[in-house]
Amino acid sequence: MTKQRSKLVVGNWKMHGRLAANAALLEGVARGAQALPPDVHVGVCVPFPYLAQAQALLGGSRVQWGAQDVSAHEQGAYTGEVAAGMVADFESAFAIVGHSERRAYHGESSELVAVKTQRALAAGLTPIVCVGETLEERESGATERVVGAQIDAVLAVLSVEEAARIVVAYEPVWAIGTGKSASSEQAQQMHAFLRARLAAKGAQVADVPLLYGGSVKPENAAELFRQADIDGGLIGGASLKAGDFLAICAAATAGASVAS
Ligand code: 13P
Repeated sequence: MTKQRSKLVVGNWKMHGRLAANAALLEGVARGAQALPPDVHVGVCVPFPYLAQAQALLGGSRVQWGAQDVSAHEQGAYTGEVAAGMVADFESAFAIVGHSERRAYHGESSELVAVKTQRALAAGLTPIVCVGETLEERESGATERVVGAQIDAVLAVLSVEEAARIVVAYEPVWAIGTGKSASSEQAQQMHAFLRARLAAKGAQVADVPLLYGGSVKPENAAELFRQADIDGGLIGGASLKAGDFLAICAAATAGASVAS
């Protein structure tokens, strides 16, 4: 028996956007989202300077918003950092933490990602915790060890109640921005693995939303979202075009989970 979990599709704009172009994109997504069935939840994670714009243009719509990172510190002399509480000030719902681009280019360890997850939760945000292996790790058979260690480091510092409030995104590094998505079988296999890790933390944690990220497009979204343990997606490039992003959101609807 498979539980019917609602679907969540979140755009990660990364370092893209300018005020004028954002307005058209945000308004287009907000308008299009009205037509989505109620069980599909939609969000966009924008660069920090545009949180106020997202709040102004998405407030009252079906679309929630958030940031792509938060500081591991609550406040203080940390030049250039942005605290989770600051992100929450703009009525944000989400903060992505541990994206592979931050792990790779900013040396973020799983322990740091765990602290950021705690900061986001303490500020009332839903952390979207990203995990995923590199191509080299996959080819050497280390996928489950690497991804398991990434999720365990986060779960280790959370209570069961806190862990039940996170979202996890499985994003194989080799599938990000490459146009080459994981196959639905590969993705489902890792989602089932993650689901078991979450369930081991506590029954309440077993049903946290598990998103797939990495070259999700309108053409492959329905097949991915139909998998038993794929509850939606974290969308990079395709979230920059309202039509593509909305088509992916609509595919979440059509992709009711099959029994595992
Ligand atoms: P793409 O959808 O561009 O592959 O990016 C995925 C991603 O990194 C989302 O966080």
